[in-house]
Amino acid sequence: MAAITARTRLGVLISGRGSNLQALIDAGAAVDYPAAPVLVISNRPEAQGLARAAAAGIRTRVIAHGSYPDRGRFEAALTEALDEAGVELVCLAGFMRLLTAAFVTRWRDRLINIHPSLLPAFKGLDTHAQALAAGVKFTGCTVHFVRPDMDSGPIILQAAVPVRQDDSEESLAARVLAAEHRSYPLAVRWIAEGRVRLAGERVLVEGALVQPPSTINPWTD
Ligand code: GRF
Repeated sequence: MAAITARTRLGVLISGRGSNLQALIDAGAAVDYPAAPVLVISNRPEAQGLARAAAAGIRTRVIAHGSYPDRGRFEAALTEALDEAGVELVCLAGFMRLLTAAFVTRWRDRLINIHPSLLPAFKGLDTHAQALAAGVKFTGCTVHFVRPDMDSGPIILQAAVPVRQDDSEESLAARVLAAEHRSYPLAVRWIAEGRVRLAGERVLVEGALVQPPSTINPWTD
């Protein structure tokens, strides 16, 4: 996929806290970063992320799903706002509405999401509780292109985070969130630089380095 423009125009869809939005705003503040949010849309008027966007001088819109008679009309309003702002890449960042196949197809390969697990494990909500219950020794986060099925689509990047034996849901969530804040801006950078290519439903990143050998967790002396 070629870089779309010198500085890719991001539309960020949120529903709440907006810490991943903040990571994209912070990344975009660097002159050499090849993308920047130009529009933030929330489906909830009380979303904390709206204040973050406003503080950074980024346009915001509240498009409340409850104000539309059906999903089709709600999503048409999203697309209209994104198009009007000249958005080239849509980033879901804690956006708590399922999107229909029509919307996902309309933005195919220009719509990405961050999910707090190593997909395809632990889709849906309460991912950290799911990880703790399963007893996995690593969890993490995934940035992926969005496809119509929930939490599925070609994986661009994953960050693995060790699970500690004494972790609570909260402590694990905090460790994964820190990885999310590094991962989302990095994946967006690669896309904006034109280094991300789809081979079928697999993503190839140009210039990816050979990784070090396996990391083992837990580890004992
Ligand atoms: C993040 O954990 C993200 O992976 C998930 O929802 C959460 C949103 O957090 N999709 P924030 O609103 O970005 O702080």
